[in-house]
Amino acid sequence: MRAPSPFDLDQPALYARWRAAKLASHPRRAEELIVDVADPRALTAAERRAILALCARTNMAVYRSPVTVEDKELPRLLGAQLGLHRLDANWLADEDGISSIAVAPQEEGGPKGEFIPYTDKPIKWHTDGYYHPQARRIEGMIVHCVRNAGEGGVSRLVDHEMVYLALREANPEWVRALMAPDAMTIPARADEQGVARPAQSGPVFYLRHDGGLQMRYTARTRSIEWKDEPATRAAVAAIEQLLAGDPPWVFRLLLRPGMGIVANNVPHERSGFTDDPRQPRLLYRARYLDHVMDERLTAPQEEVTA
Ligand SMILES: [Fe+2]
Repeated sequence: MRAPSPFDLDQPALYARWRAAKLASHPRRAEELIVDVADPRALTAAERRAILALCARTNMAVYRSPVTVEDKELPRLLGAQLGLHRLDANWLADEDGISSIAVAPQEEGGPKGEFIPYTDKPIKWHTDGYYHPQARRIEGMIVHCVRNAGEGGVSRLVDHEMVYLALREANPEWVRALMAPDAMTIPARADEQGVARPAQSGPVFYLRHDGGLQMRYTARTRSIEWKDEPATRAAVAAIEQLLAGDPPWVFRLLLRPGMGIVANNVPHERSGFTDDPRQPRLLYRARYLDHVMDERLTAPQEEVTA
């Protein structure tokens, strides 16, 4: 059975308490998200506590370190200290689950170049893997910067709990519509042999078993079908408006070498950029089926069952 959750529309008293605490504690500036760490691969107890506390408060933390070596193990070692263990790519043969994100050379023409993360173009608001089936929902992610772009490549991130709060304040029916299991559908994609990927329907907001809230979202308008009814349409338009309006709880951030983001797959967008050819932008991205450990929710139970 799932723990009682303030995000459940049938728990108005829990919601009211949660809302007051959220508004009182939510960071107001991106700088408040930053934790200085000596080495993300081996956090001190205090560094780890600071990252976990930020993730519990606002679903994301930004670490800043002097470690700029090309070490693909870094995100894996960092994640393991924060409860992030199940890398998504365990599902794919011969991939280690940590992607190197860089502009794919044009002349290469390989499959990577078809996907937007491997270009320098802007990327609209989305959560990672929004198109995945329920069994492979991405709940956590780490993005580590080895080298930033010569110019641009600025990210904006938003705590999805703040999106939820703003929508619920405006109209609880919008939240209800976005929690419907058929709110958002990624149509089937066919190849020459037939259906390569069946249609995937799912909610925008859903509750984890520990009562935490997760979000699936894309601002793309192609290859996505929203449920065709008024509350869903209005809710989706409201999200677009919120994010376009640049509220103070949307954080703007430029990752510099040695910095990175740990997050419960919060919605994010990225501006276009221009590479410096002598040192092209390189990020490592790890996607997890786990969310960042929340010691407030898990500690007592783990003590009993361990
Ligand atoms: Fe992303």
